[in-house]
Amino acid sequence: MTRAAVLALEGALHPATAALALDGQVFEGPAPGDADGVRADLVRAARDLLARHGVAPAALTGLAVGIGPGSTTGLRVALGLAQGLADAGPPLPVAFSDSPRLLAAGAGLALPAWVAIPWGRWRVMLARAREEGVRPGEAELLPLEALPARGELAGHAVAVPRGAPPLPFAEGVRTVEATAPAAAVLAQLAAAGALPLADRVPGPGYLLPPDAVLPVGRPAAALAAAIVSLSPGDLDRLHAVERECFREPWSRGMLAEELRGGPGRVALGVAAGDGALDAVALAFLAAGTLEIRSVAVRPRARGRGLGRALVRDLLARARAAGAGRADLEVRAGNAAAIALYASEGFVPVGRRRRYYGDGEDALLMSLVLGRNAGAAG
Ligand SMILES: CC(C)(COP(=O)(O)OP(=O)(O)OC[C@H]1O[C@@H](n2cnc3c(N)ncnc32)[C@H](O)[C@@H]1OP(=O)(O)O)[C@@H](O)C(=O)NCCC(=O)NCCS
Repeated sequence: MTRAAVLALEGALHPATAALALDGQVFEGPAPGDADGVRADLVRAARDLLARHGVAPAALTGLAVGIGPGSTTGLRVALGLAQGLADAGPPLPVAFSDSPRLLAAGAGLALPAWVAIPWGRWRVMLARAREEGVRPGEAELLPLEALPARGELAGHAVAVPRGAPPLPFAEGVRTVEATAPAAAVLAQLAAAGALPLADRVPGPGYLLPPDAVLPVGRPAAALAAAIVSLSPGDLDRLHAVERECFREPWSRGMLAEELRGGPGRVALGVAAGDGALDAVALAFLAAGTLEIRSVAVRPRARGRGLGRALVRDLLARARAAGAGRADLEVRAGNAAAIALYASEGFVPVGRRRRYYGDGEDALLMSLVLGRNAGAAG
């Protein structure tokens, strides 16, 4: 007798998850093995799940997919994997659900329900989950600062993903974390016949245009105005930032040299309200190349876009001077700085083994200027 075997793939909510409904009983896939939790992991989770229950991909009787909106990468991986499975054999029915509904069900909230899904570090998707799907205009992407003003949430329960960072709701809003992984909820609803069915894998639901201008990030334009050139009199303030930010800070003498001015030297800073500097950037711009020597933001001022604003200011100066490339080196384990540079278009071009005093490698990154001129936010 053929067993009813429906594989559920959900990539829009973080982390991406897989589950299997086998004759109505739902089995969760293994938890994703790394923080990324999306790419290879979803494929591996699905494969392990099928193998563990002795279901060959060709023996699946149906698929269930989450269609977002949510993580763009995760969504594409989940739908791509579903499409591959659907194309591999005879046509399969595909059940589907939007992510707000899965989150509300995972949190045990009756529909319609409010859901809030953190979106990057600055924004949140606020949506009304309904049985029939999200109505037009009922899913919005908001800056976090806008959340406290959403008075209509007062007195309501709002579903949030498990482990989500705290969101700045107004008083009187109760948050309920989802307890079940989204794919397990999806498999459950599909097995119960509660979801719409399609004869092919539906396209992803996006909340932003899929071709949104890259690199993404918080607009840095407002911060650009706060950037000033540093002069020799700023040595103490620069030294203080340097000592706070680096394991092997440059000496006062080296920093004094950077502040001396002269052809090609660029030293920028952002002043804090208390007269200290919150962020600095040092660079050398000559012979058609910008060399970024140091970007540092004091811990108290991180995560507000200052690092990106400084990098963009340097790149704008280099472009204005007609430079063709920008180079830098960064500790291979400095994930925050590497993410910042990569999101501005830098790519790794080499590695210096054991370059730093403590034995850590340096990663060399480079950016060809001119091609990415639309990057300013
Ligand atoms: C790296 C550094 C300069 C970033 O400064 P910042 O002002 O906090 O960064 P921003 O707020 O402008 O963030 C820009 C991007 O950096 C990355 N980033 C920043 N902090 C991050 C973190 N903790 N984890 C992962 N990525 C991070 C993200 O890609 C971020 O983009 P997003 O805001 O769209 O998510 C800062 O952490 C720092 O001074 N570190 C110590 C000194 C250093 O390592 N300098 C770089 C070597 S030259």
